[in-house]
Amino acid sequence: MKDVYILGIESSCDDTSAAVLKNGILLSNVTASQAVHEAFGGVVPELASRAHQQNIVPVVDQALKRAGIEKEQLSAVAFTRGPGLMGSLLVGVSFAKGFARALGIPMIDVNHLQGHVLAHFIRESEDDNDQPTFPFLCLLVSGGNSQIVKVNAYNDMEILGQTIDDAAGEAIDKCSKVMGLGYPGGPIIDKLARQGNPDAFQFSKPQIKGYDYSFSGLKTSFLYSLRDWLKEDPDFIEHHKEDLAASLEKTIVDILMKKLKLAVKDTGIKQVAVAGGVSANNGLRNAYRDYAKRYGWKIFIPKFSYTTDNAAMIGITGYFKYLDGQFCSIDAPAFARMEK
Ligand code: KG4
Repeated sequence: MKDVYILGIESSCDDTSAAVLKNGILLSNVTASQAVHEAFGGVVPELASRAHQQNIVPVVDQALKRAGIEKEQLSAVAFTRGPGLMGSLLVGVSFAKGFARALGIPMIDVNHLQGHVLAHFIRESEDDNDQPTFPFLCLLVSGGNSQIVKVNAYNDMEILGQTIDDAAGEAIDKCSKVMGLGYPGGPIIDKLARQGNPDAFQFSKPQIKGYDYSFSGLKTSFLYSLRDWLKEDPDFIEHHKEDLAASLEKTIVDILMKKLKLAVKDTGIKQVAVAGGVSANNGLRNAYRDYAKRYGWKIFIPKFSYTTDNAAMIGITGYFKYLDGQFCSIDAPAFARMEK
């Protein structure tokens, strides 16, 4: 069979990324992150789309160079079609369409969330064979999503539960903002938590049925508790930031793991993966390892570089869709949100 070369493109939020895969093996993955948002404590959509415009051509160029191939060798272009920020998506989607059309090759639209889940199938070499088999469960936790997904096949996924309000990453980022820490808060909280006592403070946990999540109550509980403590000691945050971070992280990890454990029990599926930006969190990774030991789960934790947004996951999803002959037409629009 002829070699299949896929170019993957990701531009859904504030990372411009391009990757090249040969027969499903990753040859290159280049990402330009956008420091411009740090000063604003969150992603500014207009600035994100402008930065994507500047980054997209050099990033694709670098990805092709590092892969050691010419653009004429590509078999198809896979791109993130949504969900994400519309102005950001439009840059990647438009580029992918123009590039594929100019080369006369097919286009493959990829759902960003499916990409996060399939990041577990990114292989850096032929010997890289530690992938989950179907079915498996995947906890997808990012700045915009918290879901438990039952993965039946590459292109067949069921959402068993999801957040009814804030996502886990969003809650961490907001609490970190209230503490006056930088953006994004996740990695900062993670680092501080390593030096703190996770049982120092208690915050409220949601009591909702089934596999759904809720994080807005925790956020409010964190905010109100902090406000009270600051009345007693104006330097409370400075004096207790490690304990606050550790207690917040523990609460979030407990909430995530409780529902996941229930889903494992009910489905009987013991292969359990984690994906998305929050899967970089050390507390969550340790909880996975602990559950693997205690309950006999076979766990799949992605490499740090494939937890946050990257084009390798878009490329591998595109590769599976290519094998299935699932292409899209030039008029496929970007979408900001998943349809309900
Ligand atoms: O998947 P992602 O890069 O972007 C999308 O939302 O699609 O996830 C970003 C989220 C942010 O909320 C960020 O604070 C969080 O992932 N995050 C972390 C860590 N690294 C990133 N949260 C906890 N611990 C981390 N080490």
